[in-house]
Amino acid sequence: MSERKKIMLPDLFRKKRKGQPITMLTCYDYPTAYFQDEAGIDMILVGDSLGMTMLGYDSTLPVTMEDMIRHAQAVRRGAKNVWLIGDMPYMTYQPSVECAIRNAGRFMAEASCDAIKLEGGREISDRIKGIVAAGIPVMGHLGLTPQSASALGGFKVQGKGALQAKKIMDDALALEEAGVFAILLEMVPDRVCKIITEKVKDTIIISLGSGPDAHGQLLIYHDMFGLYPKFKPRMAKVYGDAGSVILNGLRQYAQEVTNKTFPRPENWFPMKDEEYEEFKKLID
Ligand code: KIV
Repeated sequence: MSERKKIMLPDLFRKKRKGQPITMLTCYDYPTAYFQDEAGIDMILVGDSLGMTMLGYDSTLPVTMEDMIRHAQAVRRGAKNVWLIGDMPYMTYQPSVECAIRNAGRFMAEASCDAIKLEGGREISDRIKGIVAAGIPVMGHLGLTPQSASALGGFKVQGKGALQAKKIMDDALALEEAGVFAILLEMVPDRVCKIITEKVKDTIIISLGSGPDAHGQLLIYHDMFGLYPKFKPRMAKVYGDAGSVILNGLRQYAQEVTNKTFPRPENWFPMKDEEYEEFKKLID
């Protein structure tokens, strides 16, 4: 295991200041978290995308706080050194400031997260202010915000038109004003992301499919390794086809059990002859 120092907020802002890109991935389980920490990833998002990637729902909307806490705890056990962000699921912050603070606090107290993320613009400024005032760092999320996919007309690029781009820009400034430490821009045109990255002062901008000019990049882990069978978004780069490796292995296993070439002696545990003879005498 590598001797890595725990990433803290000043480390992330140091990288931003020096123009060193920040690395961020989604993660939902212990072994993957271990590998991501070993690989030196700066930030992990335990995204409510786990509803789709891990639990098989068609959207993120059915995900509960219990789901999120269970997965965030597993990730923290695997990745002690990353800056860990818990994603607030649907309707755990929309209803009221108090509800938002209580649920954000659960990520910190029960899963040792470093921060939380929530979706939305100016309209959720009061909830962000409340959570920040409770001492919890907040990441905002603009552009394609999956919890509002129905209102946004589906999973499409946001901010292609000038007016919509201006609204995303205004929302980013409102989130900065409300006290977020970072904003995730998902599926926003690269030029809009670049201008927002230049205009914000003390906020880290992370791009998910929004081009190279943000302070850092995020990918959904399952998209990187062919682990989500339903689709591969255009913005994802596939770094390895683990899905095919796993599927081939499973088919081979089924075949070997069927034709009795598995297990082999190295896969079981022998008993000494004298013990075996004694055992047979005992049961006769
Ligand atoms: O839940 C998630 O993984 C997210 C990403 C789409 C950024 O919010």
